[in-house]
Amino acid sequence: MILIVDDDQAVLASLRFLLRQHDYDCACVKGHQTAMDFIHKQRPDLVLMDMNFSVKTTGEEGLKLLQEMLKVDASIPVILMTGWASLDLAIRGMKAGARDFVSKPWDNRNLLKSIETTLAVSQHQAVTLSRQCLDEQYDFGHIIGEDKGFVQILESVARIAQTDASVLILGENGTGKELIAEALHQNSLRRDSSFVKVNLGGISNSLFESELFGHKKGAYTGAAYDREGRFSLANGGTIFLDEIGELSLASQVKLLRVLQDQSFEALGSSQTQKVDVRVISATNRDLSEEVEQGTFREDLFYRINLITLKLPALRERAGDIPLLAAFYLENLRRLYKRPGLCIKDSAMDWLQEQSFPGNIRQLKNLVERTVLMTAKDRLEIDDFRLQLNKPRRSKDGNALPEVGAMTLEEIEREMIVKAMKHHNHKVVEVAGALGITRNALYRRLDKYNLSTKGV
Ligand SMILES: Nc1ncnc2c1ncn2[C@@H]1O[C@H](COP(=O)(O)OP(=O)(O)OP(=O)(O)O)[C@@H](O)[C@H]1O
Ligand SMILES: [Mg+2]
Repeated sequence: MILIVDDDQAVLASLRFLLRQHDYDCACVKGHQTAMDFIHKQRPDLVLMDMNFSVKTTGEEGLKLLQEMLKVDASIPVILMTGWASLDLAIRGMKAGARDFVSKPWDNRNLLKSIETTLAVSQHQAVTLSRQCLDEQYDFGHIIGEDKGFVQILESVARIAQTDASVLILGENGTGKELIAEALHQNSLRRDSSFVKVNLGGISNSLFESELFGHKKGAYTGAAYDREGRFSLANGGTIFLDEIGELSLASQVKLLRVLQDQSFEALGSSQTQKVDVRVISATNRDLSEEVEQGTFREDLFYRINLITLKLPALRERAGDIPLLAAFYLENLRRLYKRPGLCIKDSAMDWLQEQSFPGNIRQLKNLVERTVLMTAKDRLEIDDFRLQLNKPRRSKDGNALPEVGAMTLEEIEREMIVKAMKHHNHKVVEVAGALGITRNALYRRLDKYNLSTKGV
């Protein structure tokens, strides 16, 4: 049963019509008191609530109603409906515990999708499944880990994969954010459509729109052909917005619009395109802190994180280190045809004690490098120690993209973005790490339209 709260009879009637058409049972109430009477009698599966009450009521009263409802039963999922003009009201509502918000005038398809997702997410009960149980039902093939906290993450992945809920994946570098994003797609109903990855840390402000939404021939100087954007390529599938914390405020607005309406226009085109994409984002930044500091839009934050998955650092799940090391070793045994390869117990213990600031990626590289650099098959502590402490020129052999995939300038730009991030935007250190002078760095920041705060 869906409860619709709105003081406008016409809105109630059209929402009821829409929902009944799609086989939802619904009840309509016009005001605060009737809504509360209903809630006391019966728990609806979902509440659809208009915040922009007309003449008689204000948004504040909408908020109050929301809070009172949740006081009766905090588990009731509520979707708010507000106009663009009062988006901040929707955000206050999200803070108070609403699950989602839809802008008015509403688009039927978006509204139905939000209802479907919110119901699906709230109806799944959290149960504790073992890793083995999960593997029987889901495809987590090459994801290693039996640590309790980590298995709980996989369980959430399983639970939400088939919904269209937007997911925000948080975690330090190398904790497996991309791997988890792929697993979400792989276990979803969208698995046969495309999974499109976009690295937002590597896209400048000026290229953002063309990259994400595409452009028409002649949209700007140098646009010699029509180009399809990433959103359009991801239609029917999943878009993975990696490093979303790097996005400038100007680009954030543009992204919000497409996430809100699931529609956009290519640069130089007046035609609005509709898309059906599932959005997964990831960042190693603390986004809620960025929101507080005003560098990340709050409305966008709520739009992308209906569900948040926080991946543990490897040191928080050190028990998985031997499993991971054994997994990578097994791959290498086959790859290099060295069936005798093994890690001595004492070396395994030693590995487990390391802090691995680069997390799983660092462990993986360490095992690979140690195997390559050691002639004997039985690997000992010293073999690993030697490689761990060695400064390296390149992280791993395939750190560079395929030839033709990127221009030298693009690589230069990405490296600068990465170094800026690594050194927390301390220009002196960044210049040092890149082997250039401070002035040379400033010139490049300028050239690539990067601010000292990132993109
Ligand atoms: N649970 C896991 N089991 C096996 N391999 C893993 C696991 N998690 C991560 N890896 C491997 O570690 C490497 C880093 O993973 P991934 O790229 O997903 O991390 P990330 O969090 O996106 O890193 P970054 O923040 O640097 O982008 C990849 O090679 C991936 O295959
Ligand atoms: Mg990544």
